Amino acid sequence: MAEPVFLSRRVPERVHAELASLFDLSQYDSEWPPTREELLQASAGKSGLVTMLTDRVDDELFDAAGPQLRVVANYAVGFDNMDVEAATRRGVIVTNTPDVLTDATAELAMTLILDAARRVTEGDRFLRSREKWTWSPTMMLGMTLKGRTLGIVGYGRIGRVVARLGQAFGMNVVYYDAMGPFDNAEFPFMPFEQILSEADVISLHTPLTPETRHLFSTQQFRAMKNEAIFVNTTRGPVVDEAALAVALRDREIAGAGLDVYEREPEVSEELLDLENVVLAPHLGSAALDTRIAMGMLCAGALRSVLLEGSCPPNALNPEVWQAA
Ligand code: DGY
Repeated sequence: MAEPVFLSRRVPERVHAELASLFDLSQYDSEWPPTREELLQASAGKSGLVTMLTDRVDDELFDAAGPQLRVVANYAVGFDNMDVEAATRRGVIVTNTPDVLTDATAELAMTLILDAARRVTEGDRFLRSREKWTWSPTMMLGMTLKGRTLGIVGYGRIGRVVARLGQAFGMNVVYYDAMGPFDNAEFPFMPFEQILSEADVISLHTPLTPETRHLFSTQQFRAMKNEAIFVNTTRGPVVDEAALAVALRDREIAGAGLDVYEREPEVSEELLDLENVVLAPHLGSAALDTRIAMGMLCAGALRSVLLEGSCPPNALNPEVWQAA
């Protein structure tokens, strides 16, 4: 008898086919998330779950699934939706999808930096408004990147690739990380306060934890240059969105590029009304090859635990395996 597995969303066909070939698969086949009740009900009796960043994986879900649950594979690298401690306590392996989405997310961060600096989306909106225009030496002036300082806040996998991309554009790259400075880092470390006051572009890459919630709020935006651009491709709540909207409105900073939102999928009205912010709907890993690779990593994790009796390399709590 194949192991019962629940997949909580529609995924690329190849990923679905892989999971269906390995397991007794049931799926919530929609672009929209299941309600909490639907998620809890569908998880009952399953040995494995594939969850999304919108699904809360916690004691309530483990209770609803039952004691036979052995593995939950989160279809994302960020796992702030998962209570890893609760999973460990219950002997459930939980996994994420590191590495395979690093380039896609870094490229999206660079896209937002370029777009905010050169006002491309703003220009697109302007043309579609059909307003009369002509080329002029003072029209829609932006900022070039060459020679500017790029401050990477959070020097993990994605932050490091954005650093290299910025370097390729001739930027002077510095980084801050709460765990740093790191030995042999490719770029110089700079204290957080100094990055705020010196960077022309800040790209945010810290995971969401209790310590990083609202890492950027009124005080931090005030400390930034008035010409600076701020980009967030990590998790919305790392930024106080209301404070960011005020900083953009009052031109305390020049522009922003956002892929994530504090109350996602809600985007605050204040931001929607501003011209100097580029808004993307959480597209960081949204490339077909990347999403397939993420799904294959989830399938591989379930296969390791449920079929091969081995600990997946992307386990967030491998101690569960060692204790078993
Ligand atoms: C992740 O994997 O954490 C991303 O935010 C999904 O795009």
